[in-house]
Amino acid sequence: MTITFFELLNPILNKEIAFLSNQLQISIDEVYQLILDEAERNQAEWYSDRVPDLNYEEPACRLAYLYIVAAANASTFQYVIESNKDLLNYVLGIAKERHELKICAFGAGPGTELMAMAKFFETQKLGISVSVDFQLLDKVKEWASSWYGIREQVNESFKNLYGANRSKWPIIPSGNLLPCDVTDLDQLPYLGSVWGQDIYVLNFLLSEIFNDNPRLRSFLTQVVKFAPTGARFIFIERRGLMWEQRIKNIARESGLTLSPFIESRCDRLVSEEPSNLGQIYDAIQESRKPRLTWNVVYSIGVKQ
Ligand SMILES: C[S@@+](CC[C@H](N)C(=O)[O-])C[C@H]1O[C@@H](n2cnc3c(N)ncnc32)[C@H](O)[C@@H]1O
Repeated sequence: MTITFFELLNPILNKEIAFLSNQLQISIDEVYQLILDEAERNQAEWYSDRVPDLNYEEPACRLAYLYIVAAANASTFQYVIESNKDLLNYVLGIAKERHELKICAFGAGPGTELMAMAKFFETQKLGISVSVDFQLLDKVKEWASSWYGIREQVNESFKNLYGANRSKWPIIPSGNLLPCDVTDLDQLPYLGSVWGQDIYVLNFLLSEIFNDNPRLRSFLTQVVKFAPTGARFIFIERRGLMWEQRIKNIARESGLTLSPFIESRCDRLVSEEPSNLGQIYDAIQESRKPRLTWNVVYSIGVKQ
């Protein structure tokens, strides 16, 4: 038995859907309809070819993200860590030496990065327990409910798989979601906890900021300045020269050394069964299925 993304998401979705139904005094089926409406809206906004106008403040919009996108994006991040030799050695080296790893994600949303690291370390079978601390920055503070839900469920799953003694778990997760617009330089003085991370991640953030935003570049330049030498900056985006150019501009301004861009695709998420999402999948999969594929470009920046 191992952790899988869809099994992990099942109780989180059930709990949040039951809460919403109770709070809005509507039936579970009506909540499913709200989720379908938001899913359709998200899709249209993501491919609108302008700054997407998303309703992440709305619970149904976040639930649509968890149902459709979270597993695919977690899988992408896990894939990049496993397939990039330099990054893999870097992560495993720190984990084996310090038994801890510090990760900061910009535009982290619900914390799909934690899902990825849970599955990654479980697959690696290092025989040690690694404390993985996450500092998640997102301008939408409402993601906190999903982030704490995911963290609680990872703990619950490891407890069921490995027992109550945490030293037997592949990872012990901790961390915070910090409400922060990463194009707002005024927020930098409050971000003491993001300096000194081992890994910084921008997983599908640039396409939501969309424009080649000089304030984002200035923000990241400051982060790079205070990051430890050798820290890795992982950029993952949709394919397309426009996104590659955005990443190059950030690297040039901040002084990061970028790896070559690598295009990767996945035609079916490995060892993932969407029906493990449970009731929501049974109810709405005919109208909308979770994403089981991805098609990305990525590059790893290194702080010199
Ligand atoms: C497509 S989601 C990616 C979430 C996560 N990294 C993943 O891969 O699943 C993009 C996230 O970026 C956040 N975001 C968009 N613009 C932002 C900004 N200016 N500052 C901080 N977060 C932002 C959104 O709220 C959203 O959670």
